[in-house]
Amino acid sequence: MLFDSHAHYNDKKFDPDRDELLSSMPENNVGLIMNSCSSLDEVPLIFDICEKYPFVYASVGIHPHEVENVTEDDMTRLKEYAKNPKVRAIGEIGLDYYYDFSPRDVQKKWFARQVEAAKELNMPVIIHDRDAHKDCMDILRDCNVSEAGGVFHCYAGSVDMAREILDWGMYIAFGGTLTFKNSVRPVEVARYVPLDRIVIETDSPYLTPVPHRGKRNSSLYVHYVAEKLAEIRGMSAEEIENITYENAKRCFKME
Ligand code: NI
Repeated sequence: MLFDSHAHYNDKKFDPDRDELLSSMPENNVGLIMNSCSSLDEVPLIFDICEKYPFVYASVGIHPHEVENVTEDDMTRLKEYAKNPKVRAIGEIGLDYYYDFSPRDVQKKWFARQVEAAKELNMPVIIHDRDAHKDCMDILRDCNVSEAGGVFHCYAGSVDMAREILDWGMYIAFGGTLTFKNSVRPVEVARYVPLDRIVIETDSPYLTPVPHRGKRNSSLYVHYVAEKLAEIRGMSAEEIENITYENAKRCFKME
């Protein structure tokens, strides 16, 4: 059974066939899905999806792209939303210096605040880090993220950086980028990370794995990530599926 640890089914790209697609997950060996949140305005639709599909869980959080106009009231709203029993993580939160859609000092402020909120709520974090490794690690270290735990989504850092993340008790997530032809560093990291700390994801509708790269992604393709990992680790895809399923359940405290 597969656990897609990061997907965005509230995305409008799923409007035409969201129900058809999600209904087909159990018969396609997808047992659990974590729907990641980017802005609090998405939460009502995410909760609707979670209510309809028992195998879909949710995070709540504000993505670095969306933090420019965040206020203290939003933090109160976030903590209210986190009381929903389907919410199992705070995310996706972090820094994005590739797009820089929000000023960097604003990104850093609300990233740290949301890590603190996760600790307060006793929930793991889902980290988005794009071209911001140093600041991201500095903030997580300063905030004692080990008290919250969580996962680095679509991990793009080095083996050295992974070592510190693992020391904090966190998980490393691999997605479609692991299957790309030019993927050197993720493969290196995938060889290094202990088996009990790896989770897999799609980031649907984005980052579609080979051989469907370029098309809309869905959890139906998460098995390609498991197969690539199995090849890297010299194991069967089924073993990787089962291990990553249990890991994600542990990461999101579903046991
Ligand atoms: Ni995402």
